[in-house]
Amino acid sequence: MYSPSLTRRTIIKSILWGSALSVVGEKVMSQSITGQLHAAGATSKGLIKLKISDFPVLGVANGSLRLGSSSIGSDKNPVGLYPPVIINRGTSNNYSAVDARCPHSGCVVGTYKPTVGFMTCPCHSSKFKIDGTYVTGPANSSLIKFPVTPENQGFISIEIEEMSFEVLITPVLNNNRQRLKIKFLAFEQITYEVRFRTFNGTPSKVVPFSLSVDSAIPQTALLLTRTPDDDTTLFIDPPTENGMIQVAIQMRTV
Ligand code: FES
Repeated sequence: MYSPSLTRRTIIKSILWGSALSVVGEKVMSQSITGQLHAAGATSKGLIKLKISDFPVLGVANGSLRLGSSSIGSDKNPVGLYPPVIINRGTSNNYSAVDARCPHSGCVVGTYKPTVGFMTCPCHSSKFKIDGTYVTGPANSSLIKFPVTPENQGFISIEIEEMSFEVLITPVLNNNRQRLKIKFLAFEQITYEVRFRTFNGTPSKVVPFSLSVDSAIPQTALLLTRTPDDDTTLFIDPPTENGMIQVAIQMRTV
C-alpha cells in the first residue's frame, strides 16, 4: 500500500509585500494548463480551481480528465510527489474528483470510460465507479475522493490537502535594489514557477527568477531531477511595489 502521509510534509504560504508583509496562504498552478491551485492558509489544504470551458472533455456528460504534476512511470506508478487527480463529470452538471492512485498498490488508475462504466486500474484491473467508489478487484476500497465545489463564472474548485507546501519570502538587497528571496522545499520531477498577481483581478503572470541574489534573472521554470537535501532558494525582482508572489506547480494532462 502506498502511504499518503509521505506527502503531508508541506504547507503553502505566499506573502504580500508593500508597506507590510503578511501571510495569506495561496498558490497557483499554471493558468494555461489547469487554472489556479490555492491553499487555504488556515487549514493548509490545496485547492485546484478549474475553468470548465478550458477542458472540453469536462463539458459533456461522463467526461473524464486526469491531471498530474509529474509523469507516470513505466511501472504505472506516479513518478513525482503529488498524486495525479481524475476529474469526472456526471450525467448532469455534477463533478467528482479522486486521487488516481489505486488503493491496492498505487498504480495510476485510468480515466472513466463510459463504454465500460468504470475507471480501471491497469495493474490488476480493479474497477471504480465514476465517483471513485470501489466495484471489484484487489483494491478492496474506493479511491480517495476530493471535495468539489462549483464556483462562479464556470469554475469548479477541488480541495486537495496533500498538495500544499510552505513558501517563505523575504526582502533582500542587491546593489541597493530590492529583490525578494523565495524559499521553499522543492521536489524532483515537479516543475515550479514563480507568479505575480496584482489586486485588480487580472490573472497572475510568470515572473523570471535567478538562483543567486546578485545574478541576472534568466529562468522562468525550475525542474529538479533530484530532491535536494535543503530548501530551494530563488530570487526575483518584484514587478511592482504591491502584489502577491506565488510559487506555482505546473500540471498537465497525464
Ligand atoms: S494496483 Fe490497482 S489493482 Fe493492483
